[in-house]
Amino acid sequence: MAAAPILPGGVAILCTICINIQHMYVLAPAPTLYGRHFLTVDDFSAGELGALLRLAAYLKGRRTAEQSSVLPGKTLAMLFEKPSLRTRVSFEVAMTQLGGHVIFADGQEFLIGTRESPEDAARALSRYADAIVIRTHAHEPLQRFADAATVPVINGLSAAAHPSQALADLLTMQERFGSLQGLTIAFVGDAKNNVAASLAEAAVLAGATMHFGSPPSHRPSEHFLAKLKAMGKPHGGDARAFCSAVRAVRGADVIYTDVWTSMGEEASTERNRAVLSPFRVTEELFIHAAGHAIFMHCLPAHRGEEVTASVIDGPRSVVFDQAENRMHSQKALLVALMTTLKGFPV
Ligand code: CP
Ligand code: NVA
Repeated sequence: MAAAPILPGGVAILCTICINIQHMYVLAPAPTLYGRHFLTVDDFSAGELGALLRLAAYLKGRRTAEQSSVLPGKTLAMLFEKPSLRTRVSFEVAMTQLGGHVIFADGQEFLIGTRESPEDAARALSRYADAIVIRTHAHEPLQRFADAATVPVINGLSAAAHPSQALADLLTMQERFGSLQGLTIAFVGDAKNNVAASLAEAAVLAGATMHFGSPPSHRPSEHFLAKLKAMGKPHGGDARAFCSAVRAVRGADVIYTDVWTSMGEEASTERNRAVLSPFRVTEELFIHAAGHAIFMHCLPAHRGEEVTASVIDGPRSVVFDQAENRMHSQKALLVALMTTLKGFPV
């Protein structure tokens, strides 16, 4: 794979001529990501996501000391209405290591659309911060906030999507398998949730096949499945939903799961336990996957619920590589949204 030096003016930087002979595809010049929002994975094209992953791998290989002058004087505002360990800390460390600053406010101080409209909050914050990360409940107020903001807005998790998690997931799979093209990724459990949705969009854009394994109550909508098929078609990606965990993971390269009850949905906890228990990820389930299959989970995890301890703490598990890759992939995201990438050999 060859890439040209980065040119002033953006990820047009990634402009190039990146020919992957093995898989016979060409990445066309990607438009700049500078100043854009990242609310859902499909805000970016397949080429742009590929470029971000290359930038993430490049930054991961650089010493921290070399990165401290990338975002000098820039401020990232982080507004979190829900708890977070990984997303908060990985964005904060990423921004700090790139030479910028972070301001954090939790739900005591900021609840989107409560003290003022999302639009007014966005217009005011855009006068202070160079980018904004928001973790919130419903997606629609986040979209309104972003529509009014004049600096990049990143979705740090909403009820509908968790796109920064999907970037780290792709980077982790790329490290493990070399290429994402042609992989089969099985998401088992609450296949309607935010993590599954963003993972699936990223997977099909990267040319992978997404399998969902869930009871009918937790199956992605037909509309979303059709969207995934359409998104994946130009890249060789596809999506299918199964009512059996075994059928979903058959031959899969990756088995992925998440908590059975997402934040904000606690009223459904008992019902979810009852219907999702046949979809627990166990060592027995791995018998049906590819011999080399790995286990992924965005974390936090509940051992004995969606996954057994022997799987998540066993040799197939890459969950802490995933967690680490949040930081590397988000560095790439921050640099791509907040600079023209001048000087990066992506
Ligand atoms: N995976 C993830 O987003 O973790 P946190 O909720 O701890 O941020
Ligand atoms: N689906 C989970 C992901 C947590 C990182 C939730 O929304 O709570």
